[in-house]
Amino acid sequence: MIISQETIQAVQRVARIEEVVADFLPLKKKGQNFWACCPFHHEKTPSFSVSSEKGFYKCFGCDAAGDAITFVQQIEGTSFVEAITYLAQRYGIPITSSQEGTQDLQGYRTQESLYILLNLAKNYYIDLLWHHREAAKVALPYLQERAISPEIAKKFELGYSLDQWDGFYKFAIKKGVSLDLLVAAGLVIQNGTKVYDRFRGRLMFPIHNSNGQPVAFGARHMAISPLSNAVDGPKYLNSSETVVYQKGRLLYGLAFAKQAIKQTNHCYLVEGYTDVLAFHKAGVQEVVASAGTALTETQIDALSRFTTKVTLVFDGDQAGIQAAFRGIDKLLAKGLEVNVIWLPSGEDPDSYLCKVGVDAFNHYIRCFAQDFITFKAGFLLNQSVEQGPVEQAKVIREIVQSIVAIPDEIQATLFLKKCSKRFAIEEELLFTTYHALRHQTTAVWQQKRIGASHYGRQKSSPYVDPKNIPFTSKLTASIEAYEREIMRILLTYGATKLSEGQPLYAYILLELDDVTFRSADCKVLFDYCKAVFNKGDLVDMQCCLDSTEESIKKIAIDVTALPHDISEAWIKKYGIYTIEEGQNVQRMSLEVILRLKIRLVQELIEENRAALKEELSEAEEARLLQVHQLLKHSECSIAKQLGTVVAQ
Ligand code: CTP
Ligand code: MN
Repeated sequence: MIISQETIQAVQRVARIEEVVADFLPLKKKGQNFWACCPFHHEKTPSFSVSSEKGFYKCFGCDAAGDAITFVQQIEGTSFVEAITYLAQRYGIPITSSQEGTQDLQGYRTQESLYILLNLAKNYYIDLLWHHREAAKVALPYLQERAISPEIAKKFELGYSLDQWDGFYKFAIKKGVSLDLLVAAGLVIQNGTKVYDRFRGRLMFPIHNSNGQPVAFGARHMAISPLSNAVDGPKYLNSSETVVYQKGRLLYGLAFAKQAIKQTNHCYLVEGYTDVLAFHKAGVQEVVASAGTALTETQIDALSRFTTKVTLVFDGDQAGIQAAFRGIDKLLAKGLEVNVIWLPSGEDPDSYLCKVGVDAFNHYIRCFAQDFITFKAGFLLNQSVEQGPVEQAKVIREIVQSIVAIPDEIQATLFLKKCSKRFAIEEELLFTTYHALRHQTTAVWQQKRIGASHYGRQKSSPYVDPKNIPFTSKLTASIEAYEREIMRILLTYGATKLSEGQPLYAYILLELDDVTFRSADCKVLFDYCKAVFNKGDLVDMQCCLDSTEESIKKIAIDVTALPHDISEAWIKKYGIYTIEEGQNVQRMSLEVILRLKIRLVQELIEENRAALKEELSEAEEARLLQVHQLLKHSECSIAKQLGTVVAQ
């Protein structure tokens, strides 16, 4: 669906960043900004700031930054369109599509209708579970037998489908739902002239998307013995895939786990619906299930938005565990810390909890977690005791392969050392294998790196405390500091009208016309602003936030979001004053521009001086001395101007 510009603009105008964020995290007001622990990385002291005045958030601990729309995208892992839709709904803004989007609008309407229908179905099944005779006879005793309390059943919105061919079908048609929609939702099956309910006589597990909206059902037949599977179709009958439900994209239980995952920065990963319920019964809420599929890339991405640590819980008799190893490497490759719990033979979390009770269960999951590398090594070496050197070498390669997947080299080294000690494998052998395998994957690695530094800057640069800048000379650091400062002024006060009637941005951009920016970020931003200016448009923060380039948005936010303490350090160190900010923006801009220019000239003087120290021909020396004179002259005149400006 192509959402109209009007809708997007209405959302941008109406959505208050602090309200949007507060729906997800507790915010505390401190000074002008709101603060919280960052939901995108683990931390104990808040470095996530929200500026209601500027309309964006910024984390000074990690790289996260953006406006209300970006926030929803990041925290919910949704697309731009979904984020706009969410915000439009939150603020009651009507969603209109642009002309060419009519077909997509149709798709969007179908999606909305599906949500409404799936909610209707969910409530229909819930109602039957608690109020129908048939459920009282079969379903409630089944819940009891499986120790699923009404509280847990209600939390997960479990329901019951009657053992009839058309119970739901009739109900829905009476409510005015079309047959097409019922089929599209995967709730009713149409076979020639026959039309019947997909789910009959089953315990219904709604499958929710990460917002808690039901998008499908997993329906369990209620015979406990595996022998009865054949009689009654599969144990779990799932909705077929629909527009709103793609199996490999969802994690069962995520909507109920999100908050806890963020708070603990950790998530248990189990296999089945009832296993998720079991963890909740035991009071552990940070748990999701892959629900019958191998872990997919999309699921891993969804998880890594919330946490950096996962613990996989394996059934005691997991036959396919070796096959799962490759998939687990994908978790490591995303930089996640992976632990493993291996349950006693024949148990899954649900059965184990029923067997040992809450306390012993909790004790087990807390005490028997092992890091994945050690677990894998132990598992493979254990299997290959009887095997010869060729087989052993293969096993070592297998283990090291997982270590190669870990992006952090220090961590990888620690694992190599740990494996060496623990399993008495020569360290050198492990390291040689590591480097060989690493070499093979270098090409892939480099691509990833390029992808990662897409914004044209390294991880360390979003906002650097001046004390920690690894500068080659103080001069260089201050040039970049002034560049950022002038960009901050430009974006914050750009639209201010000067006494001559000209806007501040025009003044700044013209003053800076002969300056080439040093820092890559500032250069990108400056070039963007110049392009906007040359088009005759207004240059300010909004024009950067409106950019289709994520990097522009981000750099603009980085540059403008200066936390108070850093800006004070800045004032002391570089003499930039911000006290009267906003009162005399023109003077302030000129001062920063002049300070920037003087630093640039001083740097050239330094370079020239260094060149003069080399062995030189007479002519060359004379030329450099002349350059020196010119530079000194221009330094002097800038300094004079600066003096007048500062003395004003
Ligand atoms: N599954 C499925 N279809 C099946 C069997 C399993 O979709 N026919 C999925 C379900 O999500 C199930 C998970 O795979 O929860 C794990 O399967 P299994 O271990 O067989 O089921 P349990 O979760 O242990 O369910 P129960 O305890 O009710 O037997
Ligand atoms: Mn089970």
